[in-house]
Amino acid sequence: MHIGILTGGGDCPGLNAVIRAVTLALINECGARVTGIERGFLGLVERQVRPLDAAAVSGILAQGGTILGTHNRCDPFHYFGENGADVSLRTVAFACELELDALVVIGGDGTMAIADRLGRLGLPVVGVPKTIDNDLYLTDRTFGFDSAVAVVAESLDRLETTARSHGRVMIAETMGRYAGWIALEAGIAGGADVILIPELPYRIEVVAALCQQRQSQPGHTLICIAEGAHPVDAGQVVARRLADSPDPIRLGGVGALLAQQLQPFLESEVRTTLLGHVQRGGSPTAFDRVLATQFGWEAAQLVKQGRFGRMVALQGATCTSVPISEVAGRNRLVPAEHDLLQAARSLGVSLGS
Ligand code: F6P
Repeated sequence: MHIGILTGGGDCPGLNAVIRAVTLALINECGARVTGIERGFLGLVERQVRPLDAAAVSGILAQGGTILGTHNRCDPFHYFGENGADVSLRTVAFACELELDALVVIGGDGTMAIADRLGRLGLPVVGVPKTIDNDLYLTDRTFGFDSAVAVVAESLDRLETTARSHGRVMIAETMGRYAGWIALEAGIAGGADVILIPELPYRIEVVAALCQQRQSQPGHTLICIAEGAHPVDAGQVVARRLADSPDPIRLGGVGALLAQQLQPFLESEVRTTLLGHVQRGGSPTAFDRVLATQFGWEAAQLVKQGRFGRMVALQGATCTSVPISEVAGRNRLVPAEHDLLQAARSLGVSLGS
């Protein structure tokens, strides 16, 4: 049996733990040959591969990033490097030339959408859900999310002490695209006074009123805002349009906008920290190492059983799998009635609405 593995889209902590688990499980359980495809689907287009064995995956469990490299601008159905030419058939032909019995694809929604289309062209694929955003459909958790939440929570702890010392309003902007999972969980873990997420558009007067109320006592306010959050009246996210990218917009900057909007209401100084890629870098938490290992092993079982076109998923406490076709092109947002939102409100955290 010859199996290929690739990591697609943005990196996140835990990718190496999955690569290690898939490789070791397939080698130890059925003597498979494993090949790493470099830089996501680009490796299949540009024929960049390398063998993976026990030595190649030794010592990578706790390493951030991906030893295979990744690329978030190479969709073989819309290949960026060659005037937008479709190189999907060339991609499948190269996988056939390698005599791959299956391709394990580790990635987020964009990667799963590509995997789904390659599967329809006859390439046997198995998916593993990755993203710090935790927004993949049909899985309660993606690996990488817990690590990002840990970084944001620690950042909030640090911002709180300086906010308290100076009597400032301190805003931390998180990643997460159109989902508020990172801001919500990290905001709760970091004791934020205000949590603003895309699913609940905020009213600036509501946020300002809370900051004003806190100005004299306790004197400072900690705000955690997701990059996809937006005011009720704006209706759209703060982002830059990218001319030459298949991902047409890049989110970021709503924290700075919020600071501008809040300052006129307040005597306290309002400052913003954009946490950015710090959330995606570094070593996975112990939780993510376990989840990534469990996902990797489960993917190896799907390969062994010939259950292709499926993505590993965590539903409740159970590791299971779902059809990739049902995940592709869909996202999982924070439901309006989510328990954590209710708990936050009950504890006096403002959600800005
Ligand atoms: O999807 C993961 C993510 O980190 C998002 O939270 C963020 O908006 C985006 O990727 C940033 O992507 P890039 O590194 O390509 O700018």
